Amino acid sequence: MTAPGPSAKEGFATVHGYRLYWKTMGAPGPKGTAVLLHGGPGATHDYLLPFVDLVRSGYRVLFYDQLGCGRSDGARSTDEYTIDRDVEDLHELVRSLALSRFHLIGSSYGGLLAIAYALAHPEPLRSIVSASGLADVPLASREMIRLKSELPPPVRQALARYEERGDFQHPEYLGAVREFYRRHLCRLDPWPVELTYSLDHTSLPKYLTMNGPNEFTILGNIRDYRVTDRLGEIRVPALVTVGRYDEVTPAVAESIHAHLPDSELVVFSESSHTAFWEERNRYMGVVRDFLDRHP
Ligand code: ALA
Repeated sequence: MTAPGPSAKEGFATVHGYRLYWKTMGAPGPKGTAVLLHGGPGATHDYLLPFVDLVRSGYRVLFYDQLGCGRSDGARSTDEYTIDRDVEDLHELVRSLALSRFHLIGSSYGGLLAIAYALAHPEPLRSIVSASGLADVPLASREMIRLKSELPPPVRQALARYEERGDFQHPEYLGAVREFYRRHLCRLDPWPVELTYSLDHTSLPKYLTMNGPNEFTILGNIRDYRVTDRLGEIRVPALVTVGRYDEVTPAVAESIHAHLPDSELVVFSESSHTAFWEERNRYMGVVRDFLDRHP
C-alpha cells in the first residue's frame, strides 16, 4: 500500500522456509536503518506509513510483514504463530538482509516484539522504540477491561450481551467494538486508509491464535506474556510512547518505563493507540530526536 518512492526497494526473504515480504525506503547512510514491527498480532506493515518521514532525516526504514501477515506466506500450522517464532524470524530476516546494527521500532504487539527481541538478541540493536507496546499482557488486559467499563451504558450493555453468548461477530456487537476503537485505537475521523487497510487485511488465523476476537478480548497465546521483571536486563536505550486515550493505556507504558533502565517516556495528549497518525508531526519529531541522540 505504501507508495514506493525513488529509493524504495522491495523483495522477499526466505526465513525458516517461508517467504517474508520486506520493503526499504531511503538510502543506506551514516544514520543507519530503522526496522519497523507491526502489531496485531496479524496486521500488516501498511499502517506504519508515517515512519517514512524518517527518510527525510537521513534514516533508511525497513518494513516487513511478519509470518502469516500481509504479503508474506501463511504458516502451515497455527502452532507456528508464537512470540518466540516472530523473534527468531526477525533475527533471521535481518541476517539475510545483512543488517548488523539497527534501530527497532514496534507498534503495539510490535512493541512487545521489540522488547522480546532486545531480551533475546541485544547485540545488533542501537535502540528500541515501543510505540504503544506492552510487556505485561495481563496488565494491558485489565486496563482494557477498565476502559470498557467507562464506555457509555448502551455500548457497554451491547458488549456484555454478546460476550455472554460468545457471539463476537454479531453486527450489534461489532458496532459496539467500533465505538471502543474510535475512542482508544484511532481518534481521527475518518481513519487513514492505510490503517483501515491493515485492519481489513489482518490475518484472522494469526490474530485469533495469538490475540483473540478483538483488541480487548485477549484470549490467545500471548495472554500470559509478562516480562516486566526482566526489563532490567535490557541495556539499549529505549523510547516508550503512548497516547493519553490509548487502549494499551499509559499505566502499561509507565510500567515499562519504570522497569527499563535507559528509557524515556513520552505521552501524546491528543492520541490513542496510533499517535504516529493522530499527532504525526510531533510524534515523528520525538522519534527522530531520540534516534539522533543514539547513533
Ligand atoms: N492487539 C494489540 C496490537 O495492536 C496488542 O498489536
